[in-house]
Amino acid sequence: MSAEKFKTQNYSEQRVHTLSIFKELSVELTTVSSDVDIWECCSKNLKKLPGVKYVWSSHYDEAARELNVSYIEFEPGLMEKIVKLLGKKPKELRMPIYENTYNEIVKSVVGTRKTLTEVTFGAIPRLVGATLQKLIGVDRFIGLAYVIEGKLYGTSLLAMKPAEPDPPFDLLESYVHLIAVSLRRRKADEDLRKSKEAYRDLVENINDIVYSVSSNGIILYVSPIVENILGYKPSDLIGKSFDNVICKEDLPELQRSFIDVLNNRLSPSEFRVITKAGKNHWMRSSSRPVFEGEKVTGIRGVLFDIDEQRKMAEEKEKLHEQLMQSGKMAAIGQLAGGVAHEINNPMTVILGYVQIIAEKMDKENPSYEKLKIVEKEALRCKELVESLLIFSRTTVKTLLKQDINNLIKETIKIIEVHTKINNIKVEKIYGEGLSNILVNKNQIQQVIVNLCKNAADAMPKGGTIKITTSQKDNYILIDIKDTGYGISEETKKHLFEPFFTTKEVGKGTGLGLSLCYEIITKHKGTIEVESTEGKGTVFYIKLPIQNEQCAGQKKIL
Ligand SMILES: Nc1ncnc2c1ncn2[C@@H]1O[C@H](COP(=O)(O)OP(=O)(O)O)[C@@H](O)[C@H]1O
Ligand SMILES: [Mg+2]
Repeated sequence: MSAEKFKTQNYSEQRVHTLSIFKELSVELTTVSSDVDIWECCSKNLKKLPGVKYVWSSHYDEAARELNVSYIEFEPGLMEKIVKLLGKKPKELRMPIYENTYNEIVKSVVGTRKTLTEVTFGAIPRLVGATLQKLIGVDRFIGLAYVIEGKLYGTSLLAMKPAEPDPPFDLLESYVHLIAVSLRRRKADEDLRKSKEAYRDLVENINDIVYSVSSNGIILYVSPIVENILGYKPSDLIGKSFDNVICKEDLPELQRSFIDVLNNRLSPSEFRVITKAGKNHWMRSSSRPVFEGEKVTGIRGVLFDIDEQRKMAEEKEKLHEQLMQSGKMAAIGQLAGGVAHEINNPMTVILGYVQIIAEKMDKENPSYEKLKIVEKEALRCKELVESLLIFSRTTVKTLLKQDINNLIKETIKIIEVHTKINNIKVEKIYGEGLSNILVNKNQIQQVIVNLCKNAADAMPKGGTIKITTSQKDNYILIDIKDTGYGISEETKKHLFEPFFTTKEVGKGTGLGLSLCYEIITKHKGTIEVESTEGKGTVFYIKLPIQNEQCAGQKKIL
């Protein structure tokens, strides 16, 4: 065989061999899953090429602009020598790539053969490079650059055995391209995974609840923070309809807002969610429709926890109402103080003379009845004036320690006359061992009478008044409950206002409850109402129990 023929035969054998390695590599590349594997798979296959002694592969770190060694393998003894020479393991080498070098690499997919001193990009000193080359027993390197669309993904250096021919460069080129495509795909997968992770991290770590609901109201996603706010695990909610956990009262409004959002109208709404513990929790939603092409498939958004904020606002509102109420009371007080005194004196004179004349008059006299009517009406006026005087701060009354149960027993005698005629039963549940409290007896009696009178008025066909006394947290509690027609929401707003009445003229003055309010607040207590229309009403009175130092007699008001 001539030398020429041998060369040709050798050449075609080499191509066949190279192709079979590539075939193996392309199959392996479809199954590798991690970056490390891809580098190992490439390097090991490259090493099988004829004439290649070692393969040194590096990935390109775009952010740091350096090549980092990903795969390299030497025999154990050799590795030690290299480490000694370089002062570190080859894997720890970082090779910075400056712009001009980068451009140079990117242009040459299969680089020209170079010696180690030429290819180290300055990271290894020339002398060390030359020694290293001798140490590992190679005479040249072939550089491969994995480049796609001008972007570098990494490089491999094939360390060639001395006097061995180069592998076929044309095949090597397609081989490099194949690896580059795999690297790009890996990088894209990795970038996607990182961006998904970053997105998930963002969604799951913000303090508000991120959610997604289908167009028919089924919860598709809810971020884990939901457990901290509402007590549910996401798995408790996903797959369920959102209206299961919304407070019934707020549902119609929320459903309207949901439809608004589906129709691409911005509609933030505030509503109460029922927590896992069964409590109402205020949330505000801000959502947008989710589009699949033109079609809206659901909504997505954020739920903000506004529970504390709402409760504070409600508290503020309540305080404001109380302030308005006491403001009105103060105004009435000033007015009533002046007017009542002016009326009281002439009224005493009128009543005095009427009574004197009536006493002397013959009962058969046709004017007697009329005079009696004048007396009755004058007495009513005087009663009204006395009520008004309670508002006036000029009235000074004394406080005495009272057993509230006794006080109620005495008072009930006054009202029972009235209730018996109206077919009303009065039930009493007296708490045992109640502390005595400092009160103005007449005034508290007046409160009980007023409340019982109102209760009776609310039960024209009869019913039950239940009076309960008890003691809790340094307070005496008096509850007065009736089975009357109840109070409407609208009436409730004005209940304690002076002169507010729903009763016909002559029947109600509208002063009863405002007086109760005035008296109870002057005793540093509270009066509250709870009522269901058609079922009945309860008034809750709370009076403070004073500690021993302030026991005894005291002047207030
Ligand atoms: N127990 C009750 N049941 C139903 N409504 C009540 C009750 N107590 C008070 N109200 C309502 O509150 C209004 C104001 O009461 P009040 O201040 O005592 O004035 P008046 O009794 O003179 O109307 C009443 O007119 C009535 O509408
Ligand atoms: Mg009344």
